[in-house]
Amino acid sequence: MSAIKIKENIYAVGAIDYDIRTFHGYETPYGTTYNSYLILDEKISLVDFVKAPFTDELKSNIEEIVPLSKIDYFIVNHIEPDHSGALPALADLVPNASIFCTANAQKGLKAYYKRDFDCHLVKPFETLNTGKFNFTFVPMPMVHWPDSMSTYLSEEKILFSNDAFGQHIAIAEAFDDNLGLDRLLERAGDYYANIVFPFGAQVQKLLSQVSSFDIEIICPSHGQILRSFVPQMVEKYQRWSQNITDENRAVIIFDTMWGSTEIMANSLLDEWTKEGKHVELIDLRKSHISYAMARLLEAKTIAVGSSTLNNNLLPNVASFLTYMKGLKPKGRIGLAFGSYGWSGESIGQIEEFFNALGFELLPSRKAIYRP
Ligand code: FEO
Repeated sequence: MSAIKIKENIYAVGAIDYDIRTFHGYETPYGTTYNSYLILDEKISLVDFVKAPFTDELKSNIEEIVPLSKIDYFIVNHIEPDHSGALPALADLVPNASIFCTANAQKGLKAYYKRDFDCHLVKPFETLNTGKFNFTFVPMPMVHWPDSMSTYLSEEKILFSNDAFGQHIAIAEAFDDNLGLDRLLERAGDYYANIVFPFGAQVQKLLSQVSSFDIEIICPSHGQILRSFVPQMVEKYQRWSQNITDENRAVIIFDTMWGSTEIMANSLLDEWTKEGKHVELIDLRKSHISYAMARLLEAKTIAVGSSTLNNNLLPNVASFLTYMKGLKPKGRIGLAFGSYGWSGESIGQIEEFFNALGFELLPSRKAIYRP
């Protein structure tokens, strides 16, 4: 892509990755973007970077606006390689630029890239003046890694939020109004469920810390820049980070050996639909575990079904449950179901995962051979 003007003297200069289909186990069917932002002032700043293979695209986008050598400050909000990948090359090309980051970021950069970076380590709410602009740094550890921070540009009311409020979608139009609210929140929910879910308390802290800021635009490090739907996105983050769910919404997630557990899943679907619940049925033979994860973001009740195979769970279900356990949804109701021939361990194993997550349990459902 080319550089995109956000406001006077503020540009998006990142890259679009149309091809990526997996992010450490999270399926990304629509690709993603690695957003980077160039801010022109008496001193010139670059906020966030791109994944290493997109370094030339970043450089070219910057040089549409200013020579690379004119950059004074590199603001590193997060060191995960999808954002910091281009930093080593840029630090070599612009050795006089100062790197602003958290202490954890400096440690992580050294450990990952096996080299020392000379960094200015920011303190919480420290401000950097670049002329007419002031940047305020707000550490947000674990949203998404210990090093993460967001950066607020007060004069332009812009929050550079890094992974927070991101969405995995590759689209050349940079702004949320092009995408529309429903699609935006669908992609943001998918991202939240698969990336941010374990860190609700940290998201709550971030929302509280930035609540005193006047925010007109949110520039995340993935996906669309938010200018039309900021309040709606913040409201969703409030709900998701507090694990607020819809009592009337349920998901049924299953795999089946010879169709019996599928019959059980369908009868549960009929039963709950007749009760007036909004129910989604997800067959793990056809849908990825990260799709299933996103569907349960606002659901109160989660049914998981597996036939027993060799005294164990079917592998797709084991994979989903392991993935869900790491993402730590809270305050849910769980129902385990499945068919078996002679031993039937799958039900208890599903319930072990539910118990580890603190779910309230509904009575399980078992069927010998055929329901
Ligand atoms: Fe988009 Fe945590 O990196």
